[in-house]
Amino acid sequence: MKISSICCLGAGYVGGPTMAMIAAKCPDIQVTVCDMNQQRIDAWNSDELPVYEPGLDEVVASARGRNLHFSTDIRSAIAAADLIFVSVGTPTKTYGIGAGRAADLRYIEAAARLIAEVSHGHKIIVEKSTIPVKTASAIKTIIAANSTSGATFEVLSNPEFLAEGTAVADLENPDRILIGGETTPGGQIAVEALVSVYARWVPRERIVTTNLWSSELSKLVANAFLAQRISSINSISALCEATGADVDEVARAIGMDSRIGPKFLKASVGFGGSCFQKDILNLVYLCESFNLPHVSEYWRQVVHLNDWQKSRFVEKIVRTLFNTVNNKRIAILGFAFKKDTNDTRESPAIHVCRDLLREHAQLAIYDPRVEPELIRKDLAEAGVSAKLIEANVEILDDPYAAVKNAHALATLTEWDEFKTLDLPRIHRLMLKPAFVFDGRDVLPTAELEALGFDSFIIGKGQ
Ligand code: NAD
Ligand code: UGA
Repeated sequence: MKISSICCLGAGYVGGPTMAMIAAKCPDIQVTVCDMNQQRIDAWNSDELPVYEPGLDEVVASARGRNLHFSTDIRSAIAAADLIFVSVGTPTKTYGIGAGRAADLRYIEAAARLIAEVSHGHKIIVEKSTIPVKTASAIKTIIAANSTSGATFEVLSNPEFLAEGTAVADLENPDRILIGGETTPGGQIAVEALVSVYARWVPRERIVTTNLWSSELSKLVANAFLAQRISSINSISALCEATGADVDEVARAIGMDSRIGPKFLKASVGFGGSCFQKDILNLVYLCESFNLPHVSEYWRQVVHLNDWQKSRFVEKIVRTLFNTVNNKRIAILGFAFKKDTNDTRESPAIHVCRDLLREHAQLAIYDPRVEPELIRKDLAEAGVSAKLIEANVEILDDPYAAVKNAHALATLTEWDEFKTLDLPRIHRLMLKPAFVFDGRDVLPTAELEALGFDSFIIGKGQ
């Protein structure tokens, strides 16, 4: 089966960049990315893309208008497509059964119903969103019950492993592409059709095919293992601080064991991002549903440890500043959940800022990419009152303005530009003692010490 037209439901962080890469690599395939969010589609069609990713502008520019299109006309795009990616959000459910753990699948269900209603002929539906195991079965049931045109469907799982900030490199040169399908002849034809799309630029040996349930589960497990490594090293960061060990030295020493490996061992103020916590909670709920309480409790600890890491960072600040931050100006450098992205979803900065505001601190926040409005919205959604945001939060476009007359500065994102800040100037601008809380170990330690800062660096014992 040859694919000549692709449509993607969801023009978000995954749908936009992923489809742009497919369009760039497959000029003979028409790719339409759809969303009902008109503002988002307008942004994809403009020079100010809604997602900041290094290299993304060039990829989009190479294909947009040729074979890459962004549109709110979802129905026409589905009708014209041979293959439909579903890349809609799957947030944690906030209400009813499974609230706080289960995935909210309402956008997936709505997408399936729309596909059933609009489709004619044969379509391949590809789950790109991260979903609980057996979602393919739910999609099939919904479509079978709602399609009246005699259309036929195959459902595949093709989870996305890109990380934000490196999305373009990850898409161009992925560790692997995972495709799960049914073992029926129709299922295998669909798998081969999708394999042939990726095989245009990904070496065949890196395209892994499995059954549907292995593919769906592998995505949750991959994120759980990655997050577990961060919680593991963060737990050790606390022990390093207590004992005089250095967490980077420990990470290096253990990471040289080829069975452990060096990646994802950077201690931090906590992991953030839209997916780690959500996907682990999804796994926890899945285990509960299959009556595996020991397994669910095991994975839940990864999230508990992460919450504790964020809380103990705030506690460290408050205790160090003589047990009160009331009315003290604290400069917050970095609000995004990691460098090279404007995304703040589940950023540890939200948790840290909220708790400092509850202690009546005055915050001066600087982030090179995050929009001030988004920072205010995140804090409001985290439960900070509009009045407190208005009175106690200042958002600046210059780090030196943020640190002026500050009692302390805290780095919460590892932006490269923080590595080369003018520290003597910062020391002059701050009140004394000038306290530094480096939650990302991004500032030059020796220089901080030489200049007389009173500094705390995550995972570094004194
Ligand atoms: P997002 O919120 O940025 O984008 C989802 C988009 O889907 C929204 O713009 C929404 O308006 C749109 N949408 C919802 N229902 C729709 C419908 N019926 N038709 C068309 N559009 C619809 O989400 P995201 O970050 O792109 O994540 C999407 C999925 O990919 C999630 O399941 C997530 O877990 C997974 N994922 C995300 C990342 C990441 O780095 N963000 C990486 C891997 C996997
Ligand atoms: C993560 C995974 O890495 C991707 O493979 C996956 O596709 C994606 O989730 C998803 O499913 O959404 P992402 O959240 O974009 O990607 O970014 P990561 O690089 O994994 O970082 C996540 C968080 O962990 C960040 O807050 C980062 O600062 C933190 N982190 C990462 C550490 O604290 N230490 C590390 O060693 C690595």
